[in-house]
Amino acid sequence: MNEIRLFCPATIANVSCGFDVLGLCLESTGDEMIIKKTDTGKVTISKITGQDLPLETEKNVAGVAVLAMLKETNTDHGFDLEIIKKIKPGSGIGSSAASAAGAVYGVNKLLGEPFSLNELVRFAMKGEELASGAPHADNVAPALLGGFTLVKGYEPLEVLKLHTPADIYATVIHPQIEVKTADARSVLKQNIPLKKAIVQWGNLAGLISALYTEDYDLMSRCLHDEIVEPMRSPLIPGFDKVKKAAIDAGALGSGISGSGPSIFALSKGKETAKKAAESMAKVYKEFGVDYDIHVSKINTEGVKVLK
Ligand code: HSE
Repeated sequence: MNEIRLFCPATIANVSCGFDVLGLCLESTGDEMIIKKTDTGKVTISKITGQDLPLETEKNVAGVAVLAMLKETNTDHGFDLEIIKKIKPGSGIGSSAASAAGAVYGVNKLLGEPFSLNELVRFAMKGEELASGAPHADNVAPALLGGFTLVKGYEPLEVLKLHTPADIYATVIHPQIEVKTADARSVLKQNIPLKKAIVQWGNLAGLISALYTEDYDLMSRCLHDEIVEPMRSPLIPGFDKVKKAAIDAGALGSGISGSGPSIFALSKGKETAKKAAESMAKVYKEFGVDYDIHVSKINTEGVKVLK
């Protein structure tokens, strides 16, 4: 195999109570990427469509992720990447993660899979480090493994794929403004009161239990963010109203998708997710804020090869 075409999915990081550790993979939105094995011995990016992003390998999140991976192989091959960007950078649904995860997944395939999906996470994190200054894995892990994932720890890196109940649907609304992850991280306080931490880890543990037992009521009670959401929500126009609209429409919970400005809601069943979408959209219509919105099943596969 000398060429591969991939779907590189969008993801929702944090999922309210799991800042930097919890994430999930979306099915309806993602980039495409074509990777060719070459004999140049170099990693090149020949074309990017859809967004104005750097073609220089060392300045591109996909490029640096592949370079990090190739350092640990002894291949003489080169690789050329063509990226068809459909996820807007700074939208909060893992644009850089989709590129970094897709690139290492595809090159690994073309090399005969010397690395496991779990091992690819640390290479893809190099892309996140370039994009935001913080090598977080809560977007690249679900992009590579699919479903819900948990970063059990960063030192050493340990990533777990969690159970995904079949009935969960995500609604994501993206007000058309850009929030850079680095900026959304700079508003965060570095210390948190113990009282809030207790609520947060109770919710995170409860949410994981709810995924395995498929207990939607428990899920709903756990989808809260005591710590990060209050610090970041002022960056997002109409956040409280959009969130309330989703919950009033029957969603299990709603919060900031990754570092924003997208707002997500999780619902039991597609019909409720669509109702949440209508209600969330109505708020932005009334505010005169332009937006994109989609309803998506959880993608349990992650990056996939397109025929
Ligand atoms: N966990 C990261 C953050 C995700 O919230 O900053 C960024 O998409």
